[in-house]
Amino acid sequence: MAKLRYLGHSAFYLEGNGIKALVDPFLTGNPLAASAPDDFTDINYIFVTHGHGDHIGDAISIAARNDAAIFTCNELAGWLSSQGLRTEGMHIGGRAAFPFGRVKLTPAWHGCPIQADGELRYGGVACGFVIEVDGKKVYHAGDTGLTMEMKLLEEEGIEVALLPIGGYFTMDADDAVRAAGFIRPKLTVPMHYNTFPPIKASPQEFADKVNGARLSEVRILEPGEELIF
Ligand code: NI
Ligand code: MN
Repeated sequence: MAKLRYLGHSAFYLEGNGIKALVDPFLTGNPLAASAPDDFTDINYIFVTHGHGDHIGDAISIAARNDAAIFTCNELAGWLSSQGLRTEGMHIGGRAAFPFGRVKLTPAWHGCPIQADGELRYGGVACGFVIEVDGKKVYHAGDTGLTMEMKLLEEEGIEVALLPIGGYFTMDADDAVRAAGFIRPKLTVPMHYNTFPPIKASPQEFADKVNGARLSEVRILEPGEELIF
C-alpha cells in the first residue's frame, strides 16, 4: 500500500516499496508546514520541481542528512551535484526505471532559477513528475499554468494527481478543473493555495466543480493528513 502525506503548500511525503520520498519539501518558512526538516531521517529520494524557494525549500539540507538522491531537471541537478549532493538529472519527457518504479518528467510552464549566493542563475526549466509507487502513478504538477500537454497524461492512467489551484503563479481553481478533465486521474488533491495572500483559493469550490463534472474524485488534505492509495 502506498502512502501520501500532505505537508502544506506543494510539499508531500510519499512512501511505498523501496521509496521514502519528499516532493518539494518547503518546510522552513512555510506557514502551513506540517513537519520540520529534522522529522525526516530515512528519506531515500527527493523530487524538486524547480528552483523557487517554496519548492526546493529544505531539499539540500534533508538530502545531505539522509544521503538522498534529488530528482530534478538536468541543469538544476548539475548545480546540486556541484554542492556535493547525489542527483538524478533527468529532463522533460524523459522516463527511467529505478528500484521503486519509473519516473517521468513532465512539462511545467514556469521558471526555474538557481537562487544562490544572492544571485539568480540559469537553472533549466521547471517540471512536474509522474512517479510510480507500488505500481501506481502519482502526478505532481509542480508550479504550472494549464497546458495541453496535460492531455497526454490521460493515457498514463494517473492514480493520484496533485494540482496547484492558487492562481497568480500557477493555474487557478477553474483552470485546475480543466486540467483534471484533461488528465482524468482517479484521485485529485489540490495544492499550492492559501500559503500566502496572492494564492488564496477555495479547495471546496474546486472539489465541487470537479465532482460536479465527474472528472475525478477529489480529496482535500489538511497539512499533516495522509492518503492511502
Ligand atoms: Ni515557482
Ligand atoms: Mn510555487
